[in-house]
Amino acid sequence: MKQATVQFHDKLPGNADLRAEVLRALGAQPRRLSPKFFYDRHGSELFDTICRVPEYYITRTETAILQANAAALARLAGRRTALIELGSGASQKVRLILDMLRPHAYVGIDISKDYLLGATRRLAAAYPWLKVYAVCADFCQPLSLTCCPPDLKRVAFFPGSSIGNFEPQHAVLFMRQLKSVLGRNGALVIGVDLKKEPRHLNAAYNDAQGVTAEFNLNILRRMQRELGAKMDIRGFRHEAFYNEIHGRIEMHLVSLRAQQIHIDNETFHFGKDERLHTENSYKYTIEEFQALARIAGYEPHTVWTDEKHLFSVHYLQVAALGEAGPIPKDHGGDCSGITTENS
Ligand SMILES: C[S@@+](CC[C@H](N)C(=O)[O-])C[C@H]1O[C@@H](n2cnc3c(N)ncnc32)[C@H](O)[C@@H]1O
Repeated sequence: MKQATVQFHDKLPGNADLRAEVLRALGAQPRRLSPKFFYDRHGSELFDTICRVPEYYITRTETAILQANAAALARLAGRRTALIELGSGASQKVRLILDMLRPHAYVGIDISKDYLLGATRRLAAAYPWLKVYAVCADFCQPLSLTCCPPDLKRVAFFPGSSIGNFEPQHAVLFMRQLKSVLGRNGALVIGVDLKKEPRHLNAAYNDAQGVTAEFNLNILRRMQRELGAKMDIRGFRHEAFYNEIHGRIEMHLVSLRAQQIHIDNETFHFGKDERLHTENSYKYTIEEFQALARIAGYEPHTVWTDEKHLFSVHYLQVAALGEAGPIPKDHGGDCSGITTENS
């Protein structure tokens, strides 16, 4: 039997980004870090555990939607495709559509290098007919996928509601930037969490087993492991709540008392109740998200949802390669790392 191989491209060597960003964030007010820093191998494993906790409806609902609509999705995508997964993590959800879609190539893009390598190797072993590429990169930076065969139609797959981690105006910039990777015939299959009763949202990000809390605290553990930071992690607690005004879940790490974090020769003081803002997760109605997609230059073709209307999966076609509508106003948060060149 042919040995399963993965072509690996490392576009993110070292942890310089983490050091620079942490030092900048801890020295600023308000203190804010990009959620991309949750994800080292341990963070990726914790995220997979979150996907299995009963309160976190997102993964099982999106999985059911993809299972039910894989054939329709494959018909829309057509033949001779390259499937490009952004934030591919465990590369599990893609398995729900691979048999129907039969792409010629799969490109998994993720920031969590070791995890990406393990997941894509397992995928290549399970689908020996598939050409598998692994690209370790920050998808907020301009992407050039030279590894991807140019004659194939490019279909991006962005599940898990990761688009919700962008401020809406940066979601537009991100999707515009992605268009130049997808090309004129490209398409984007994207999972978007829907607005719903706040008690469901609050429960999903405050699971009883405390896995989301551990995931949030992993940012501090990474500072210790990778930057040699000195601090007492027990002096911080996880906080997640739905902010109805902004339509987003916010995650913070809150200091339980006056304390310091030391990194290199710098000391950062935290007063009691001072916080580090670690994640936003925006929720949309179907209409709100379709409006955003149009501004980014996509034509919404089909949207699938579940009976309870918890989650949505959109099939968007690239509408035009030029500029589209004006970018919506800032909703009050800051940028989570998107660069605007190429947009
Ligand atoms: C919410 S998880 C979703 C994982 C998986 N796609 C799913 O739907 O279950 C987000 C994934 O995106 C990756 N990720 C987060 N920020 C990233 C970035 N800026 N660039 C590349 N990958 C990123 C993480 O490592 C993680 O695997």
